[in-house]
Amino acid sequence: MSFPSDFPAGFVWGVATAAYQIEGAVADDGRGESIWDRFSHTPGRTANGDTGDVACDHYHRWPEDLELIGNLGVAAYRFSIAWPRILPDGVTPNRHGGLPFYERLVDRLLERGIDPVVTLNHWDLPQALQDRGGWTSRDTVERFADYAATVFRSLGDRVRLWITHNEPWMVAFIGHYRGVHAPGLVDLQAALRAAHHLLLSHGAAVRAFRALGAAGEIGITLNLFPTYPVSESDADREAAAASAGYTNRWFLDPIFRQAYPADTVSRFERCGATMDFVEDGDLPLIASPIDFLGVNYYSPRRVSASGDEFGWHVQPGTASGRPTTAIGGEIYPDGLTGLLVGLQRDYGSVPLYVTENGAAVDDQIGPDGGVHDEARIDFLERHFAAAHRALQLGVDLRGYFVWSLMDNFEWAMGYGPRLGLTYVDYATQRRIPKDSFAFYRRFIAGTRERLARDARRPSP
Ligand code: FCB
Repeated sequence: MSFPSDFPAGFVWGVATAAYQIEGAVADDGRGESIWDRFSHTPGRTANGDTGDVACDHYHRWPEDLELIGNLGVAAYRFSIAWPRILPDGVTPNRHGGLPFYERLVDRLLERGIDPVVTLNHWDLPQALQDRGGWTSRDTVERFADYAATVFRSLGDRVRLWITHNEPWMVAFIGHYRGVHAPGLVDLQAALRAAHHLLLSHGAAVRAFRALGAAGEIGITLNLFPTYPVSESDADREAAAASAGYTNRWFLDPIFRQAYPADTVSRFERCGATMDFVEDGDLPLIASPIDFLGVNYYSPRRVSASGDEFGWHVQPGTASGRPTTAIGGEIYPDGLTGLLVGLQRDYGSVPLYVTENGAAVDDQIGPDGGVHDEARIDFLERHFAAAHRALQLGVDLRGYFVWSLMDNFEWAMGYGPRLGLTYVDYATQRRIPKDSFAFYRRFIAGTRERLARDARRPSP
């Protein structure tokens, strides 16, 4: 197989977004408050005090955005459903709608031959549930399973791929231990409880999905970091392995091996945490078989041994000596190949999708009115090649979703970072497809043409 001539037939090229980052319309049609509304409106939590109140106004402009998706030529569109639109207080169904917005979107996508890929939780937990403990509370597991079942009942016949949670590590640890994301706690015990309940609710949703006999496939998306020691010293190598326990194995091992990684458990216990929230039957539920694993990859982690609380230090991306994105993430395409190969080696043959990959670039509108984001094109091309190498090495990679369709609310970093294939002028809501949009469209069209040509060629 040579790049880029033959990605396999059926390989899914897609593009991704998330509800809170693009929709706006936070009070329309009975939507309830989410933890990101509360968090972003709390002074000091986001850059410039930016909020998702308006974002890309996608809730009102979705027909225009659908045109963009259609023009891109992708086979699939990954988006998330805003839980507070479906169950505004986390319990009671929304009398004013909620689901119809997504039903319309799904139907229009299908009419164009684009497969909807639905994420159920891309971080916007109803605030009413947070007021009762949020992910630290075991009750939220049932709430999520009920929400998932409600959505499966309405869209289960039409959606091809379902993702329970997006990046539970970010929710649990960046939201409950680092305090950088909603709900903004700094409490290791709370983070571990949150991680466990996220995993448990994933299992409960998978069980509900199977019970309802929905047509599609279901999995979870993890953000995983290929992790490298900064030197070959034993101490740095041990620190790197330990750090991967925290970011990667903490989720992979329960899902695929029905157990938390013992070395990481001991490390957390040494920091004063306990695992007293794990009950009988939890791990088998978490390990309910899934149809695929979604992988979000942006940058690797380079780690050295240190006296910090966990015993490791993560080097900033800018210290790597390699090029970085506009938000300082190291650009390292080989990390993607290694990550995918390692997953297959360590966790078996579950089909994989890259559910997010993309780059923040300091995009400017040029004098000609275009956005010439060569750096993003280069980034994507090199990461596509890295995925292709993983395929050549035998990895069962089924598809690739670029983050993101358009610039959007980048969580605590607000509207500063731009990661879209489409530039959004937030003052006017004008969408300007960037050069990378045209590049991706050509790339997808090219792979399709080559497949069609090969299919016509008589076999030797
Ligand atoms: C990921 C998130 C996604 C987006 C990208 C840049 O961690 O899943 O919503 O913010 O980062």
